[in-house]
Amino acid sequence: MRAIVIDKPGDTSVLKMVDRPIPRADATHSVMRIHAFGVHRYEVLTRAGGSPAVKFPRVIGVEAVGEVTEPATNSQLKVGQKVMTMMGGFGREVDGSYQEFALVADENLYPVDYDGDWITLAQYPENFYTAIGALKSLSLTAGQTLLVRGGTSAVGLAAIKLAKAFGLKVTATTRRKAMLSELIENGADDAVLDTDNSLVTDQSFDGIIDMVGTVTLANSVTHLNQGGAVCLIGLLAGEWIVENFNPFILAGKSLTVFDTTDVQQDLVDEIFKLIKANDLQIPIAKVFKLADIQAAHKYVMESRELGQVIVDND
Ligand SMILES: NC(=O)c1ccc[n+]([C@@H]2O[C@H](COP(=O)([O-])OP(=O)(O)OC[C@H]3O[C@@H](n4cnc5c(N)ncnc54)[C@H](OP(=O)(O)O)[C@@H]3O)[C@@H](O)[C@H]2O)c1
Repeated sequence: MRAIVIDKPGDTSVLKMVDRPIPRADATHSVMRIHAFGVHRYEVLTRAGGSPAVKFPRVIGVEAVGEVTEPATNSQLKVGQKVMTMMGGFGREVDGSYQEFALVADENLYPVDYDGDWITLAQYPENFYTAIGALKSLSLTAGQTLLVRGGTSAVGLAAIKLAKAFGLKVTATTRRKAMLSELIENGADDAVLDTDNSLVTDQSFDGIIDMVGTVTLANSVTHLNQGGAVCLIGLLAGEWIVENFNPFILAGKSLTVFDTTDVQQDLVDEIFKLIKANDLQIPIAKVFKLADIQAAHKYVMESRELGQVIVDND
């Protein structure tokens, strides 16, 4: 099989295609044929050496969709079962999606009830799981208001779609004026500019999903209604630490954080029910082949197109 192996961190030239034997299942790991996967900016960071937990050589790539070709001994999974995988160290502690087959622990393989094509399916795992987790942590009810801060990101677009399916009134942000109308076209009820980490509006919201991160957190809190909550899920601005944060601005409000570490099959099932019932999709920015992974990495960093970059592995 073909695999993209990184021997040492560096620029796109370290993404090298090699031939490897197809892995064999064992007592707890099944073999998955990877049909498609999303390519993310945080994988570019890993390639460049920015993820200290990742030891090389490594096949990176944090999520994939495909089918089981050889189930683990005593596995509940069947040959041909449609699955997605994410987390569980995939593409970090163990080899990930940038290959044709992967050996994946059964506990990290999630069956999906989905009839569409592999490329369309590949937009969902990380984007929709992160978005629904963040939304649920806010405990909003239909009719309440939500701000999606970082609305043009793939997770942001997924959050807009899911929030509308939950009956929320959704405002989304971008730093680019030209993107305001695109946010509306992609389902937001309203769109506002985020300039120098400050929202260009006086409005307040019942809930905020903040993907820009620590640099906008305090400003997000000031745009919360009493009783409202901010869920921090991303660090698009690249800063991990909140400088000069006065926690008392949270009086009568709350702050939550969501990450996808603990993936639950129930929530995966709920996502695919919502997708089916509401035909939820985000734009697919561009599709590459595995052999063009270097170009895909350049594209995710340089492109300003909306949507998810996908590798079609068939
Ligand atoms: N918590 C979790 O488990 C989890 C899981 C997946 C992803 N994430 C995080 O969620 C975030 C979104 O991921 P993604 O893959 O969806 O991102 P993405 O699609 O690569 O996001 C691209 C968008 O980010 C915005 N952006 C870039 N730099 C920014 C900055 N300095 N300030 C504000 N906006 C900036 C740009 O919007 P404009 O130019 O239009 O403003 C751009 O359209 C990331 O921080 C990622 O690490 C978290």
